[in-house]
Amino acid sequence: MQILVTGGLGFIGSHTVVALAEQGFTPIIVDNLSNSEFFIKERIEQIIGKAVKFYETDCNDLQAMEKIFQENALQGIIHFAAYKAVGESVAEPLKYYENNLFSLINLLKLMQKYAVQKLVFSSSCTVYGQAEKLPVDESTPTLPAFSPYGNTKQIGEEILQDVVRSNADLQIISLRYFNPIGAHPSALIGELPRGVPNNLVPYITQTAIGKRSILNVFGNDYPTPDGTCIRDFIHVCDLAEAHVKALEFLQQQNGSFIDFINIGTGKGNSVLEVIKTFEQVSGKKLPYQFVPRRSGDVTAIYADVSKAEKVLGWKAKRTLADALADAWRWEQTIRTYQ
Ligand code: UFG
Repeated sequence: MQILVTGGLGFIGSHTVVALAEQGFTPIIVDNLSNSEFFIKERIEQIIGKAVKFYETDCNDLQAMEKIFQENALQGIIHFAAYKAVGESVAEPLKYYENNLFSLINLLKLMQKYAVQKLVFSSSCTVYGQAEKLPVDESTPTLPAFSPYGNTKQIGEEILQDVVRSNADLQIISLRYFNPIGAHPSALIGELPRGVPNNLVPYITQTAIGKRSILNVFGNDYPTPDGTCIRDFIHVCDLAEAHVKALEFLQQQNGSFIDFINIGTGKGNSVLEVIKTFEQVSGKKLPYQFVPRRSGDVTAIYADVSKAEKVLGWKAKRTLADALADAWRWEQTIRTYQ
C-alpha cells in the first residue's frame, strides 16, 4: 500500500516513514528540504533495510505534485509538510498562510481528482489555546489562535471539515499533537533544528553538549506547582506509530468521514521536571537560569488521550526518561556530521 508522506524527511515525518515501513506500508516521501536534510533519507533506509522513493518537490507546486499522483498508485497521504515556528509566523504571517494552506488545498484537489481517499493531517494542541479544563479532550471548543502558525492549523481543520461536508468521498483524521520530543533509539534520525532551537528539548541537549552556554527557562512565576509551564511531552516514535494506527483505522471507513484525535501521553510535566529528568538520564548537570515569560506561552496543557485509545487502539508506550535519553543519544551523534 503506497502512502505519500509529505515532509517525510522532517522530524516527525522521518520517524513516521520508519513506522509505516515496519508495518508493511510503502512510504513515498515528498519533501522540499526547506527544513530537513537529504542524508536523513539514507538513514531511514539504513533503519528499515530498503530503499525509499523520494521526490524533492514543494507541495505548493500543483503540477509537480500532480506528476507524483500520476506516477504512483497512492492509497493514502500523511501530510506533515508545513512551517512550524510560532515566532517566525508572527513576523511573516503571509509566508505561513501561503505555505501551510495552499499545500493542503493542492493535496485535497489532487486527492479528489485521483480518488485517493485517506488523509492523516498534522494538527496541534495549539488549537485549544489555554484550555479551562485539563486534561483537554477533543470536544473542547477551540479558542482564537495565538499565532498565525496556530491559525493555519485551525483553518486547515476547517478546510478539511468543509470539504468533507461537501460530500467529498474522503476519509480524514486530524491528529492534534502535543509536544513531540526524542529521537529514534538507533540515533540515526532525530530532530535537526536550524539555527537556535525554539523548542525546549533540543535547547537542553545543545546546552548539555556545549553548543549553547545556558538554557533560559521562560518564567518561574506561573500558577503551577514549581512555577514553570506544564506540557505533555510525547516520544516521537509513539507519535509516529499513532499515524500508522490512524491510517489503519481509515482503511475501515467509507464515504465522507472526519475526526479529530489528541496524541499525547495524558501526563503533564513541568519544564523543571524535564530538566531534572534530563540530568538523571544523561548524568550531566544542566546550566540554566530563569528569565521572563515568553510571550504566547500557555501555562499548562496536557491531553485527555482516551479517544486515541478507544478509536485507534493506540497509547503512548515510552516514558519522558526514554525520550530524553534518546534525544541525548541523538545529540551526541549529530556532531559526527555537522
Ligand atoms: N522553554 C524554555 N526555554 C526554551 C524553550 C522552551 O523555558 O529555551 C519552555 C517554554 O516556555 C514552554 C516549554 O518550554 O513553557 C515548552 O516549549 P516548546 O517551545 O518546546 O513547546 P511549545 O509548547 O511552546 O510548542 C509546541 C510546539 C508548537 C505548538 C505549540 C502549541 O512546538 O509547534 O506547542 O502549544 F504550536
